[in-house]
Amino acid sequence: MIITIDGPAGSGKSTTAQGVAERLQFVYLDTGAMYRAVALGFLRADAEPTTDAADRVLPSLDVEVRYPSDGQMQVFLDEEEVSQKIRTPEVGSVVSQISTLRPVRERMVQEQRRIGFEQEQHHGGVILDGRDTGTVVFPEADLKVFMVADVEERAQRRYREYSQEGKSISLEEVRQEIRDRDERDRNRDIAPLRRADDAITLDTTEKTIDEQVAFVVDRVKARQ
Ligand code: DC
Repeated sequence: MIITIDGPAGSGKSTTAQGVAERLQFVYLDTGAMYRAVALGFLRADAEPTTDAADRVLPSLDVEVRYPSDGQMQVFLDEEEVSQKIRTPEVGSVVSQISTLRPVRERMVQEQRRIGFEQEQHHGGVILDGRDTGTVVFPEADLKVFMVADVEERAQRRYREYSQEGKSISLEEVRQEIRDRDERDRNRDIAPLRRADDAITLDTTEKTIDEQVAFVVDRVKARQ
């Protein structure tokens, strides 16, 4: 079974997807983490976010997803585990530009499909989250959820995450980062953020994580 969760930054996709994966013993694939690893590769190579740079840098970038025995997804860049290093405001500020590049998207989508089918075979279920997982990566998914939440609520959530990780950034900067990212994710030419016609919308503004997880789990069970 393949489940997709798409939506804007901070709408609660990854926390919900992880909760659902845990409850149902499914594998979780965070597609944003893969774009973030590519963005970190660009930063390390001092490359501009252009198609020319992508054609030059991508062939030598090795982005890999691994699932150690505890089931938590890990991302590797050139054999180095970078699951934490991709969560910096620096990566956050370049990733949405890099994820608009066609060669980057083509390579990531192909890899996400491969991982999705492989893990579904081994574990029976995969839950992906991102921006285009229900529209482009798995248009034939068994269940598609589109998550939304107010900008202010999403900024507060991201700000709390950054604070817990000890990162110094103001709430206003986070608000701006979210607005900029929404704008770019929604208006890009390739695979823009949009709700698939057959997706169920879940507004998480006033929902707890448990409620969000239960919402998705109930719908998965109804389809099983
Ligand atoms: O979900 P996130 O904040 O980790 O995503 C990082 C960036 O990657 C975000 O700017 C949008 C982009 N992204 C994308 O274009 N397509 C996806 N399927 C997932 C993320």
